[in-house]
Amino acid sequence: MDAFLVTEPQYIKRVLMTDATTYEKGPEFRSQFLDLLGNGVLTSEGDLWKFHRGMTRPFLNKHRYSDLQLFYDHTETLINRLKDRMREGFPADWQDLAHRYTLDTATTFLFGHDFRSLAADLPCPPLHPSRELSSDGKRVHHFFHAFQQAQVQTARRLRYGRFWPLFEFWRNRVREHVNVIESFLEPVIESVVLREKHHPRSAECQDEETLLEYLTRLTDDQRLIKDQTMNLLIGARDTTASTLTSAVYVLTQRPDVCQRLRREVVDMVGHRVPSYDDLHKMKYLRAFINEVLRLYPPVPITIRASTRPTVWPAAGPTEKPVYIPAHTRIYVALLIMHRRKDLWGPDADEFDPDRWLDERLHKYFIPNPSIFLPFHAGPRICLGQQFAYNSLSFVLVRLLQSFSQFELVLYDDDASESSSRSGVEFQTHLTMFVKGALWIKMQEPVEDPI
Ligand code: HEM
Repeated sequence: MDAFLVTEPQYIKRVLMTDATTYEKGPEFRSQFLDLLGNGVLTSEGDLWKFHRGMTRPFLNKHRYSDLQLFYDHTETLINRLKDRMREGFPADWQDLAHRYTLDTATTFLFGHDFRSLAADLPCPPLHPSRELSSDGKRVHHFFHAFQQAQVQTARRLRYGRFWPLFEFWRNRVREHVNVIESFLEPVIESVVLREKHHPRSAECQDEETLLEYLTRLTDDQRLIKDQTMNLLIGARDTTASTLTSAVYVLTQRPDVCQRLRREVVDMVGHRVPSYDDLHKMKYLRAFINEVLRLYPPVPITIRASTRPTVWPAAGPTEKPVYIPAHTRIYVALLIMHRRKDLWGPDADEFDPDRWLDERLHKYFIPNPSIFLPFHAGPRICLGQQFAYNSLSFVLVRLLQSFSQFELVLYDDDASESSSRSGVEFQTHLTMFVKGALWIKMQEPVEDPI
């Protein structure tokens, strides 16, 4: 097939923003995602997409994402689970915990039903005495496995292009995992639909309604409700978990950055629970999150398809214009653009939050904001950006208040702790993740403030 891998900001801007109607997700993409996402805001096009986006946007308004109580409850459980594991003297799989935190937050927020994955048994590292999972632990493991495999298999379809059905001639590799996810979603949806039918929320209480209640008020179509909730669950959960995973990985590698973050947290809020305003005043924390999103964008690559032939002007004086035929696949490679030295400076590969605070901000990002697009831009820009910044900031602040040091633990083949500092491998299906587990030991502060 014809395909272009695009890392040039002016072309990416064209694809996502200024000429977005020419570069749609396309029928091939929709067929590959149909089993996982049905017809929802992430997959639809044209008027149907406008309908979905218009339906979702009011739900994600400021009132909702500034309500930190949602994050508070789940963060407390997360921190307590971590403290228990650290006091046993064993590391915890932070990537798994980040996925539990975002699943419980998302299911509470979207369905009004806490999945309670944080309460179930956690995976144990080698040599831990209790490696058998209880039935609740197995329930969570089963769901997590299905959720991950549904995305791995969908990403596999993307690699096979339009020939993907040949590789699934005998067996639909996505559907079997989606069935597991639906066995959890469907009873929850049905109970909310029934409740809303018989006891609808009064107009005064509509500010507190969940996505499910909100959708049930707008439509009777159960298929549409299910697709839309699934789209938001996928859009919200793994992206946020990916950022949290990368953020804590960075903390293990950069004690200096960890120290500065803790200083800001202690100076601004001490040990109290941060407010919405506190989070917005923490400049170094915001720079840290942006730097994580720059070097480890949760959606590292995105696919579009051209609907008509176009010519892109030359990207520079020594370059030629580029002819893009109709029906050509465009890979928007954010991961590569975010690391280009000609766009970010010679130290582009280094993790340095100060680039968001010093003169480099005015030299690189401000004159050319399209060089940083973790949430994309244009008509399909992420609807949960502010929700994500709040959720990430809140959990990171609570984590830094509770722990002062983060140590990466790697295991050798014989299950002994490895002394090597490298060995973490990042991979991607639809979002970026760490291969296997991310075992971390965290130390509670002996004396605070720092
Ligand atoms: C760090 C966290 C997040 C990142 C990096 C992220 C990134 C993105 C990206 C790149 C897209 C565009 C996908 C495409 O068009 O191909 C997108 C779309 C979307 N995101 Fe997010 N997202 C995050 C969190 C969230 C959260 C928490 C929510 C909801 C609460 C959310 C809701 C959505 C929705 C509804 C869309 C579809 C927009 C449309 O097509 O019109 N996202 N996100």
